[in-house]
Amino acid sequence: MLSQLIANGLLVAAAYAAQLTQVSDYNNNATSKAQMWVYKPDNVVENPPLVVVIHSCQSTAQSYFTNSKIPWKQGSDGKGYITVWPSSPNSGTCWDVSSKASLTHLGGGDSHAIANMIAYAIAEYGVDAERVYVTGGSSGAMMSNVLAATYPELIKAVSLYSGVAAGCFVSSSGGVDQWNNSCSGGQSRATAEAWGQVALNMYPDYDGPRPRMQVWHGGADTTLAPQNYQETIKQWCGVFGYDDTAPTEQLTNTPESGYTTSNYGENLQGIFAQSVGHSVPANLTASELWFGL
Ligand SMILES: *[C@@H]1O[C@H](CO)[C@@H](O)[C@H](O)[C@H]1NC(C)=O
Ligand SMILES: *[C@@H]1O[C@H](CO)[C@@H](O)[C@H](O)[C@H]1NC(C)=O
Ligand SMILES: *[C@@H]1O[C@H](CO)[C@@H](O)[C@H](O)[C@H]1NC(C)=O
Repeated sequence: MLSQLIANGLLVAAAYAAQLTQVSDYNNNATSKAQMWVYKPDNVVENPPLVVVIHSCQSTAQSYFTNSKIPWKQGSDGKGYITVWPSSPNSGTCWDVSSKASLTHLGGGDSHAIANMIAYAIAEYGVDAERVYVTGGSSGAMMSNVLAATYPELIKAVSLYSGVAAGCFVSSSGGVDQWNNSCSGGQSRATAEAWGQVALNMYPDYDGPRPRMQVWHGGADTTLAPQNYQETIKQWCGVFGYDDTAPTEQLTNTPESGYTTSNYGENLQGIFAQSVGHSVPANLTASELWFGL
């Protein structure tokens, strides 16, 4: 049996097949004890790009990785880039997008821990620092917005599915990993300028390049109200100085029927899926295109 397997090459293939692996020591100097998991495909390219894939509540790095609706293992295998899968340390496994620590550059929260994972991947895996991308769904999408605001220097582009603007879940008492009904219900509204300022204040001294943002949201979302799409678009319009009331281009039924793609400028694209609920399924092709992969 064994010799037959070896003869068939099956055992060899199984022994060498890439797997999701935990990195227990990633030089994490944050207070947050988020876990780092990495997937290096068998065909990893030289000087590889990196996609950080951030899970939703009630998920983990492992369950997200094996979820057939989450296409990033497939993307990694297909194109030879590395994926890092952070795993939340909080009960219920939502990401902390409410405390000052996480909403501040080098503040010690979950966002800081994920920034450390990116730095580790660049130092240890030869990742191309100019090709680091972030994606996530729901709580992972909220964290994607927070990372874009707190660590703009590390990230080239973001493609996020069904989140809220950075700072929208802020806790008035500074609590870690708090739910915020005003934001989830779509009642936290502000002008583009005000939302932009919320993001800029998370790293006030920074004036370098910022990640290009692609924002997906469903019009039938009953968990994070569709209004959060508008608020997120306003936020990045505020940051980039775009007019949130006048997209430069609007494409109906793009990339699929019932979806509208709105471009606001080179760095911001919104994709609103009229009758889709929580959360919009990731479109690997569209996200990879946005990343330039
Ligand atoms: C923590 O690590 C980051 C890099 O991820 C670095 O920029 C920062 O200076 C470090 N802070 C301390 C206090 O070591
Ligand atoms: C919820 O977030 C809003 C901003 O979106 C903030 O003004 C409010 O204080 C937060 N609510 C709580 C209970 O922390
Ligand atoms: C995903 O997006 C691409 C364009 O980027 C489009 O061609 C494709 O139809 C979309 N896939 C689905 C399932 O909607």
